[in-house]
Amino acid sequence: MKIFLDTADIEQIRQAKALGAIEGVTTNPSLLAKEPGDWKKIVRQICKEIDGPVSVEVLALDPPAMLAEARDLVKIAPNIVIKVPVTLEGLKTIKELHNRGIETNATLVFSANQALLAAKAGATYVSPFIGRLDDVGQDGLQLIQDLMTIFRNYDLSTQVLAASIRSCSHFHQAALLGADAITIPLSVLLDLVRHPLTDSGLAKFLADWAKK
Ligand code: E4P
Repeated sequence: MKIFLDTADIEQIRQAKALGAIEGVTTNPSLLAKEPGDWKKIVRQICKEIDGPVSVEVLALDPPAMLAEARDLVKIAPNIVIKVPVTLEGLKTIKELHNRGIETNATLVFSANQALLAAKAGATYVSPFIGRLDDVGQDGLQLIQDLMTIFRNYDLSTQVLAASIRSCSHFHQAALLGADAITIPLSVLLDLVRHPLTDSGLAKFLADWAKK
């Protein structure tokens, strides 16, 4: 299972990279909009910092314009993955990009049917948004389970990238379900490390050692 960091903040990426757990980055327009400065420079910097896939989303809504944006984005760095929303236009774009050998991340996936169609179109990754489904009273993790079953049933090579992860429990469950990759914000990554028994155990070891 790969772990990606869900951010466009270069300092956060460096912090996570130092822990040795991060194999890629996912951005989205909201995350890039929060960062001051030229977004292309930021993307270039992220791609230099991280060897693995860096997802960057197209903003256009029609296939020719999406393809034009994707062509520009892939010039930034060889590890760019084009994020495309799962709409009718997005599926056409994913298919075209697949035909041209360009990796894609089908984003804003909220149903197994959307993910299956994105996989058929040739998406490299599909990103089901767990937290946003939970936000509207649905079971985001059930979608991961359904996708793992369906993709296994038909031997689809598209990778399930669990996204919109809000908690350690989301991360744990997505890993148990066999998600191929999980993208998390830095706050969740830091929470994954913490355990009160580690802290109290360490305090006791040091206290005992001090008595020697
Ligand atoms: C994934 O690619 C998205 O950038 C992200 O996980 C969305 O998460 P959010 O629902 O917490 O904004």
